[in-house]
Amino acid sequence: MSGQTTTEPPRVGAAIRGEFPIFETSTYLNSCSQGALSHRVRDAVEGWLDGWDANGAEWGFWVERNEAFRAAAARLLRADADDVAVTTSVSQAVSALVSALDLRGERNRIVISEYEFPTVGQIAHAQELRGAEVVHVRPEADGSIPAERFAEAIDERTALVCCTTLSYRSGHRHDVAAIAEAAHAAGALVLADSYQACGVVDLDVRSLGADVVTGGTVKYLLGTAGLGFMWLRREVRERLVPTQTGWFADEDIFAMSIADYSPHATARKFDSGTPPVPSLYPGVAGIGIVEETGTRAIELHVAGLVDRLIGGLEDMGANVATPSDAGRRGPLVCVRSTDVDALVAALAAERIVASSREDKLRVALHLYNVEEDVDTLLAALVRHRALLA
Ligand SMILES: Cc1ncc(COP(=O)(O)O)c(C=O)c1O
Repeated sequence: MSGQTTTEPPRVGAAIRGEFPIFETSTYLNSCSQGALSHRVRDAVEGWLDGWDANGAEWGFWVERNEAFRAAAARLLRADADDVAVTTSVSQAVSALVSALDLRGERNRIVISEYEFPTVGQIAHAQELRGAEVVHVRPEADGSIPAERFAEAIDERTALVCCTTLSYRSGHRHDVAAIAEAAHAAGALVLADSYQACGVVDLDVRSLGADVVTGGTVKYLLGTAGLGFMWLRREVRERLVPTQTGWFADEDIFAMSIADYSPHATARKFDSGTPPVPSLYPGVAGIGIVEETGTRAIELHVAGLVDRLIGGLEDMGANVATPSDAGRRGPLVCVRSTDVDALVAALAAERIVASSREDKLRVALHLYNVEEDVDTLLAALVRHRALLA
């Protein structure tokens, strides 16, 4: 999904905004929570209902949609579809991954960064019931977690290192390749939960360095809840055998056998039960929009908007929690507030949709945002300057 193949300018900003009705009434800056709904995704959901009405159980087509999504997720990551599992969430994916780890011996540690999404931390700690020990890597005073902090926490007892690609809490981007180098030197696996990057950062699993990459369709992939994916490096997925499983992970779904466990040879062994049919339709449509524009063009467009936003915030003396170094951030900008709930509510009253984490306002930019969105937000923040820290 590297980008355009024609000489047409990429469809970003004003060129694509009309497909997302929310911009008729709102300044939408919340793609880190939920991507905006497009006409195309709405039509896809209606297509699911129409097909159900007309034909009843469209099993063949549903399974085809599952495979269409797997193939699209693989292209997004520049990977092979056989190395991608289709899941209902990142939680399901990570639970299946850790179910394949033997944590009873010497190598029982799971290292997690302080910037993991709660589900990753909670799943790691759940493994304490299976013999795991969880080690936390904490940020420096400036909020960054350099690869060296991970390296200090990793040793020959480490089974898995979790280093989210882009923090949902602060917008920090981890140096996944450097962290992976330290982990691999100690014989540990690396999970890069990339939910906050998929669809807006030009990812390539061949250079990212991680062994496992997870994501889902709720946010920058413009779909809805109930659908995610997990890529695994080929040698890793060949070696790992999940004990969290289901009939769609079997080598032959239609054998309908209750007599044994025969996981699929490919990453499908990390799939589970009945595919998430209602989420596949919007998922395939949403990821299709991202694919048409291309993640390289989207990342470039968003980088320009983020520069403009951070520049404006710095000009007004705001306390920006996201790094100013463009290489260490992505589409998410976090700004400290004295009363973030009041600030989010004040913005919402002006139909500016943003979100918060802890004491920080979160502003997310995506392919459909334009400079005017940034300027509208900056003007509102000047009016609500008293709520900024
Ligand atoms: C980084 C990250 N990981 C995972 C998730 C969600 O996980 P799940 O698909 O299990 O709900 C989110 C957001 O909802 C997220 O921001």
